Amino acid sequence: MIRLEKVSRDYGENKVVHALDHVDFEVSRGERVAVMGPSGSGKSTILNLVCGLDDPTAGKVIVDGVNLAALDDDARTRLRREKIGMIFQTFNLLPTMSAIENVSLPLRLNGLSKKEAELRAGAMLERVRLGSRLDHRPDEVSGGERQRIAIARALIFSPPVLLADEPTGNLDSSTGEEILALLDDLHRELNTTMLMVTHNEEAAAHCDRILRLRDGRVVGLTGAALPAGEGR
Ligand SMILES: Nc1ncnc2c1ncn2[C@@H]1O[C@H](COP(=O)(O)OP(=O)(O)OP(=O)(O)O)[C@@H](O)[C@H]1O
Ligand SMILES: [Mg+2]
Repeated sequence: MIRLEKVSRDYGENKVVHALDHVDFEVSRGERVAVMGPSGSGKSTILNLVCGLDDPTAGKVIVDGVNLAALDDDARTRLRREKIGMIFQTFNLLPTMSAIENVSLPLRLNGLSKKEAELRAGAMLERVRLGSRLDHRPDEVSGGERQRIAIARALIFSPPVLLADEPTGNLDSSTGEEILALLDDLHRELNTTMLMVTHNEEAAAHCDRILRLRDGRVVGLTGAALPAGEGR
């Protein structure tokens, strides 16, 4: 479902940073892979490449059989809109929109009516325990609540691929466990392929394999690749 072939990503011109250095790995459909490694090791860079928001300096990124290099901006936008839920490290919520409007947006962009979209968004916000914050803007809620709005927005259209950058990073342990349980439900219902950046071994234990990075290189990939559909 996701394949990186000898992917490198360099930043800068004078002082070059090798954010990723010949990274090779594959994630099967329905598989859940935790991405772990120290700060600056290239974790977020991988997610940005897989969703086509960034391009590798060398190598190929293939999602659902398509080499992203072959897609123009419109095609990439469509791919994200239809297939890839993203939970960014910085959330990327729209500041002028309320929680329910933020969460409705992916459905609206996929053509649902405002009424239907808000009905579903309200139910999803209930599921992340934000039923009482539907009309609050992102700057009117706490950091953990913002994170839960971002999670609700990523899950709302039941994407076949979910990219999550520390989805439980700002949450207390009980809210974090609820979010992990929600991701488990999504996986069970829809066989979602997940790439989840985390510093938390407990969160990683919800995944089938762990990809370990250091200085932009893969230093470990634990667990055997599971056949499609047999993710735990
Ligand atoms: N736009 C950029 N310009 C220059 N260097 C960058 C840029 N984005 C990332 N880098 C560098 O690339 C490396 C990898 O960054 P990345 O954001 O992938 O790290 P990370 O593993 O997600 O770290 P963290 O755990 O702190 O989020 C870092 O050394 C970072 O400084
Ligand atoms: Mg990061």
